[in-house]
Amino acid sequence: MCLDSKAARREAAGRTYMDKVRIGIIGTGYIGNVHGRIHSGDERAEISALFDIVPERALAAARKIGGRVCESREELFDNCDAVVVCTPNKTHVEIATDAVGHGKHVFCEKPFAIGTEAARGLLAVADGGNGVFQVGHNRRYAPVYTKLKELLGSDAAHSAHIKMNRGELKNPVWTGDVNVTGGFLYETTIHLFDMMRFQFGEIEELVAYGSQHEYPELDEFSVIFKFKNGFHSTFASSSDASWLFPFERIEVFCHHRTILTQEMEHLIDSKGFDANFETHSWAMTEKEERWGYVQEDRAFIDSILEGKTPPVTALDGFRSVELVESVYEAINTGKRIRFD
Ligand SMILES: NC(=O)c1ccc[n+]([C@@H]2O[C@H](COP(=O)([O-])OP(=O)(O)OC[C@H]3O[C@@H](n4cnc5c(N)ncnc54)[C@H](O)[C@@H]3O)[C@@H](O)[C@H]2O)c1
Repeated sequence: MCLDSKAARREAAGRTYMDKVRIGIIGTGYIGNVHGRIHSGDERAEISALFDIVPERALAAARKIGGRVCESREELFDNCDAVVVCTPNKTHVEIATDAVGHGKHVFCEKPFAIGTEAARGLLAVADGGNGVFQVGHNRRYAPVYTKLKELLGSDAAHSAHIKMNRGELKNPVWTGDVNVTGGFLYETTIHLFDMMRFQFGEIEELVAYGSQHEYPELDEFSVIFKFKNGFHSTFASSSDASWLFPFERIEVFCHHRTILTQEMEHLIDSKGFDANFETHSWAMTEKEERWGYVQEDRAFIDSILEGKTPPVTALDGFRSVELVESVYEAINTGKRIRFD
């Protein structure tokens, strides 16, 4: 479904936003409060409804960001135009499907879904809905990564070495429960899987190795990706590497040039035959902007008000799930995975 016809359907349904986009947040834990704070500071939006299965959490959030504390999802749907899904991973498909079914615009935190079939189902639902459907791959908006994309736009990158680690799978407690997360790759690594597509294009094939050490699931990964345009990269991801800075890093190798990112704080651009380099820093930028949350929430409201396609679509969400599943499959079968 193209967004232009979606916009036309919205208009035909008489849904205009003369005033403000009314936001309903489902799941008012850590990231629900982040999105709530940001939307409550946007004059084009207002927090109108909150729902959490632990009502005290919704109450605590309401005291800070406003909004009616709802006793059910139905009550929340009755009191908002757009739904922000901030519950644990395994609940995303069911809640986002329900929200689309109620005619709402949806912002769904990552991961889009757990499992390729579930992701395919949600993609069909999102494409058939009347509203905007955006997925929470916030890093695409982080200044360090938009700068990297800008620099790569004027150079030919050859290959990359990528790392995405985590210090532990203990906080929140459910991050260590594979029945809730779908696995470590879904919880953490998926961020830079999406980033690879954003920076380097579509993937043609991959090989992967994994092992299990600290947690009752695969928790250590080495992957090699080949892209359709000939680019290739190595990728390492560990769940228990400590929070040593930088826990995420992309090193891109170009013609006599390395561009290096360190978390979302620094970008170092080294060019030529000597040790010349330029450093860009966002260390002093407020975290919610440095990590791209402010920009992604503004983009969601822009897409609703202007009836346009959001920068991170349901298809992007689907592709990131497909990559996660392919890496698990490569490890479990020992086979090289190819994408058509
Ligand atoms: N994009 C990012 O950078 C980022 C950062 C953190 C978390 N996340 C994602 O956001 C989601 C939430 O993570 P979090 O760290 O905020 O977790 P959290 O545990 O802090 O909050 C989750 C909240 O959802 C509530 N909840 C659980 N099931 C529910 C249901 N069925 N209906 C309503 N409420 C329900 C819980 O009571 C809790 O308050 C996860 O999917 C996570 O992967 C994304």
